[in-house]
Amino acid sequence: MNTRSQWGTRAGFILAASGSAIGLGNIWRFPSVAYESGGGAFFIPYLFALLTAGIPILIMEFTLGQKYRGSAPLTFRRMNKKTEWIGWWAVLVAFVISTYYSVIIAWAIMFSFFSFNQNWGADTEAFMFGEFLQTVDAGQFGGFVPSVLIPLIFVWAIVFGILFAGVRKGIEIANRIFIPALVLVFLLIVIRAVTLPGAMEGLNAFFQPDFSAITSPDVWIAAYGQIFFSLSIAFAIMITYSSYLPKKTDITNNAFIVGFGNSSFELLCGIGVFAALGFMAMQSGTDVDSVVEGGVALAFVVFPQIINELPALNGLFGFLFFFSLVLAGLSSLISITETYVAGLQDKFNISRKRAVLFGAGAASVISLIFATRGGLNFLDAVDYFINQFGVALLGLVEVILVVWVVRHLKDLQTHANGISDIRLGSWWPISLGAITPIVLGYMMYGLFTQNLLQQFDTPTGNYGGYPDLFILVCGWVVVAGVILGGIALSLAPWKNPAEVKKQDAEKREAK
Ligand code: ALA
Repeated sequence: MNTRSQWGTRAGFILAASGSAIGLGNIWRFPSVAYESGGGAFFIPYLFALLTAGIPILIMEFTLGQKYRGSAPLTFRRMNKKTEWIGWWAVLVAFVISTYYSVIIAWAIMFSFFSFNQNWGADTEAFMFGEFLQTVDAGQFGGFVPSVLIPLIFVWAIVFGILFAGVRKGIEIANRIFIPALVLVFLLIVIRAVTLPGAMEGLNAFFQPDFSAITSPDVWIAAYGQIFFSLSIAFAIMITYSSYLPKKTDITNNAFIVGFGNSSFELLCGIGVFAALGFMAMQSGTDVDSVVEGGVALAFVVFPQIINELPALNGLFGFLFFFSLVLAGLSSLISITETYVAGLQDKFNISRKRAVLFGAGAASVISLIFATRGGLNFLDAVDYFINQFGVALLGLVEVILVVWVVRHLKDLQTHANGISDIRLGSWWPISLGAITPIVLGYMMYGLFTQNLLQQFDTPTGNYGGYPDLFILVCGWVVVAGVILGGIALSLAPWKNPAEVKKQDAEKREAK
């Protein structure tokens, strides 16, 4: 049997968990989500979601992983043999995310190079969607885009290399290099951005609260979605990483450091991005509202425009921005991929190298879909559905199972309190047992009915205005597939001798 890998130091674990949390979600998702969801007022639902769901679930996942010392499926199985399926569901959600997350990193690599000569030209939108991605209609593949395919192969080669090297010699060392480098590079970006003319207008637009927005359920959904994705919770990652912690460690304090560290970095990203947008608005004689865009376009269309307009060192600033996306993205992709590497190793008793070959091998092959001319459409639809009905729904089911079905929270609280400096008070069970299920349950109900009703409703239409069949396949089939796949994997027999022995003993006891 393989002995379980372990982090070399506490700092190594904190850096790796922070590296997982700080990712593309912080740099390109957070600023536009916050802006679209009420600007300064968004911080109310955001902080509420962080304190009542994000950090409490992070503590729960750290405790689960550290206590049961297994990948997500093994951890859930050890907690209660009927809950293994949720571990596989989480692992499969991570698997799907890794297939397109890797492609965004590949774009960022290309844009790092494009920065030096601003190869994107004056019309950055036409460049991104036309010349670079050569986007075709939704549902079509249209052949590979070589300038995405080549960096994508490079991304996977790095991930394979780091994961082959193992937890301590691969993941820990990589994060020790990536995270300090990322913080340094991003601080340089923020300093440059806030000293540009117009920066203050950008920051005013970002922080100006629109209190009417927070009465909208969509804004709350956005806040929870952002917290879950950004903190890497509810998709197996933090359980896997904490399973490599030693027996004596601090759980609660680590969770606060990672949770607040991630949100601080997120705020820094918002400040850097909006200061730069303020500059851009001033250059084009318009207001921030007319230059801001969401998601993909913010980083890959608006930022190149900002880089074009800079008074000096355009190439260097551009390179640093896209390089920071690459660093943040890689440290997160490693953690996402590790979830299924660990799951395969635990269940099928295979070596780490074989688990990397099978798991990351399959993910890298599927990621090729997103390197085609139709890749952007697939990416947009899969990302939306897997986040709302994968990550957020999973968070809700996970909390209900642990707190209300197997009723394990008290044990976890005793375990965490036994080894942590900060003792968990009643806010923790109240957050997990009442606040999160009620708020998230209400949100999920609204989201399901809204999306299902819109599905075949012509005036409102599907998410993104995509055709029905496309949304059915890239949305609902993927969402249902990861749940059914999770159940199927949990039914497969364990090959790990230690687990088989334990399970046989359990069966004998039950008789
Ligand atoms: N937590 C990672 C991110 O924010 C997945 O991108």
